Amino acid sequence: MTAELGSFFVDSDQPPLSPDDADVVRRFHELYYRRWLRQGGDTIRISWFGYEVLKCPLDLWVYQELLARTQPDVVIETGTFAGGSALFIAMALDRIGRGRVISVDIEARPNLPRHPRIEYITGSSTGSAVVADVRRAVGSGRAMVILDSDHHAPYVYAELVEYAPLVRPGDYLIVEDTDVDAIPVRPEFGAGPMAAVDRFLSDYADFSADRRCERFLMTLNPGGFLRRNDAPTRVVATPRSI
Ligand SMILES: C[S@@+](CC[C@H](N)C(=O)[O-])C[C@H]1O[C@@H](n2cnc3c(N)ncnc32)[C@H](O)[C@@H]1O
Repeated sequence: MTAELGSFFVDSDQPPLSPDDADVVRRFHELYYRRWLRQGGDTIRISWFGYEVLKCPLDLWVYQELLARTQPDVVIETGTFAGGSALFIAMALDRIGRGRVISVDIEARPNLPRHPRIEYITGSSTGSAVVADVRRAVGSGRAMVILDSDHHAPYVYAELVEYAPLVRPGDYLIVEDTDVDAIPVRPEFGAGPMAAVDRFLSDYADFSADRRCERFLMTLNPGGFLRRNDAPTRVVATPRSI
């Protein structure tokens, strides 16, 4: 049975930031990330009912809003890690009363959270067997996709090509950790998720970055909340290599 959900969702475009304010946000973002990456701080290492999640809590709030608003049949997550993010999604789906999570990781880790809505798949997310399994699981249902595995641009682009067709108009494809090369919080990393998104958006015009998902100012995924446009437009036949 579907739980009773409210109907309050924030849909408005947000006012622009002044250059000074944008600089404050960028500098805070750098500090937030550096605390985790270089200073042993646990800003990005958080706990969801005892399971580790590598995210900013503000992004999880956006996830909850998108899940409640779009009510997908299946949420596909590449990059399970400790399973905390899969559990967060599954628990949100419990409240919605429908949907399941398919979480893929190249590594099978012990002690992942068990939940009746979660199915774990072990393998490379772009491997043909894994992609076929995921496609089969989605079937004719509506999918929300979260890409959070290997963050190198060619890999993220390959994931985008495989998984974007599963996302229907009005639904979301989230590319995690675009801040790596967008802010950039890890300049030494080279081309990462942001470069892949830029290439993808120039190839597949029927997705757009939904900047309303960045309204808390701090997100690890700037430009990475992609919404499939309501009216289908152009899809290139042969994706370019990156
Ligand atoms: C950033 S962590 C995922 C974090 C998790 N989604 C969370 O929010 O807590 C990245 C994960 O991707 C996995 N990974 C790396 N390369 C992969 C690949 N080619 N296919 C699937 N998973 C991969 C790693 O084993 C790691 O567990």
